[in-house]
Amino acid sequence: MKTLFEPFKIKVVEHIRETTEAERTTLLKKAHYNPFMIKAEDVLIDFLTDSGTAAMSDHQWAAIMEGDESYAGSSSFYHFEKVVKEITGFKHVIPTHQGRAAERILFSIIAKTGDIIPNNTHFDTTRANIEFNKAEALDLVIPEGKIPELVHPFKGNIDLEKLSAFVEKNYKHIPLGMITITNNSGGGQPISMSNLRETSYIFKKYKIPFFIDACRFAENAYFIKLREKGYESKSILEISQEMFSYANGCTMSAKKDGLVNTGGFLALNDDALAEKIKNLSILTEGFPTYGGMTGRDLNALAVGLQEVLEENYLRYRLRTAEYMGEKLLAAGVSIIQPTGGHAVYIDAKHFYSHIPLHEFPAQALVCSLYKKGGIRSVEIGSVMFQNPAMELVRLAFPRRTYTQSHFDYAIEVIIECFKERDTACGLKIIWEPPFLRHFSAQFEPVSKVHQSQ
Ligand code: F0G
Repeated sequence: MKTLFEPFKIKVVEHIRETTEAERTTLLKKAHYNPFMIKAEDVLIDFLTDSGTAAMSDHQWAAIMEGDESYAGSSSFYHFEKVVKEITGFKHVIPTHQGRAAERILFSIIAKTGDIIPNNTHFDTTRANIEFNKAEALDLVIPEGKIPELVHPFKGNIDLEKLSAFVEKNYKHIPLGMITITNNSGGGQPISMSNLRETSYIFKKYKIPFFIDACRFAENAYFIKLREKGYESKSILEISQEMFSYANGCTMSAKKDGLVNTGGFLALNDDALAEKIKNLSILTEGFPTYGGMTGRDLNALAVGLQEVLEENYLRYRLRTAEYMGEKLLAAGVSIIQPTGGHAVYIDAKHFYSHIPLHEFPAQALVCSLYKKGGIRSVEIGSVMFQNPAMELVRLAFPRRTYTQSHFDYAIEVIIECFKERDTACGLKIIWEPPFLRHFSAQFEPVSKVHQSQ
């Protein structure tokens, strides 16, 4: 059979409230052309993020009922710790309420003025937490990773030559090296095992700790199985174990491949650093056996981390993005190729080639998709970053939440907007906060065309 169906049945459904284009035009204006400010009930299909938006399985809901809410030493913590240790092999596992809490704790301990932390591409919260501690976040993804239409099996790889030269010159100022799997800001693109291995050797040579930003480790592992020689018959668990074996620790937002709605953790081998992390974690996250999580959430996470290793789930997951990608490419829409694990990224420079970068073409497209079809997406371009390598709109897919017809509808909306692209115009920022401006910046259309819409 050729048809690949969703490998689950639906037991609980959530109603979607229908809206009209006229309603959405008013709502968008009220939200100052920033869909982060739109109420979820006014969204038809929410592709804003794949973070914390997964549908949990019946086994996870059963685990919720069995959660142990003891303040210290709950059985849920030990369940969670056992699963994380099995996958990562790391000695210390410290829960946090989400990924950025792990980042904040780690970087407030290890980063200071003058330090530089290399990565393939830092995610925005990672970069912000590094910069908040007055250190520098350096992106060293391979050049192929910055060309949307270029096909390469591992576009998330770090540039080993550049990294090696940089580390040789600056090792005294590098307290930690990182790699983000998959490379979210660069299109959800995977990193090969050999790149991980080589990266770890470079850092090891100078005794620099190497951490993985592991949010989407299972999707990365499945790409390795599909694309890297020698891994065809290995299980996702075995591939994951090998990936983590090259690192000294990891930060993880469990809201992605943990298949849960909240949570994160730090895992590492260094005893002294783990002690510092636990001490700081008590200040803001809580006692180290719950770290800002409830017992039931830790229990559901333990189950989610096992379910995410199932190959039929990962096959369907990666195929979803590929399916949308194929349809968009056939209609002439330029996207990051090949499609990544958790999202499809539209090249907004190509889509709205008539809108100059300082008028935020990607944000303009985010607005059009909402207005036309009630689809919420996110800008990853010049609103989110200064001088970004690419100007993208990300449609990120909640795990196990939407069916193929939701995707077919979204494809239709995007193609419709593409056909009408000449009528779209750019935006200008009328207000912005000091950090992470994309979350709350306010915009206004720059020309009459948009105002009249
Ligand atoms: N690292 C990566 C690669 C991420 O994608 C995210 C979150 C984080 C760290 C931070 O984790 O949200 O749990 O604090 N990414 C979400 C997204 C928000 O939409 O891509 P968090």
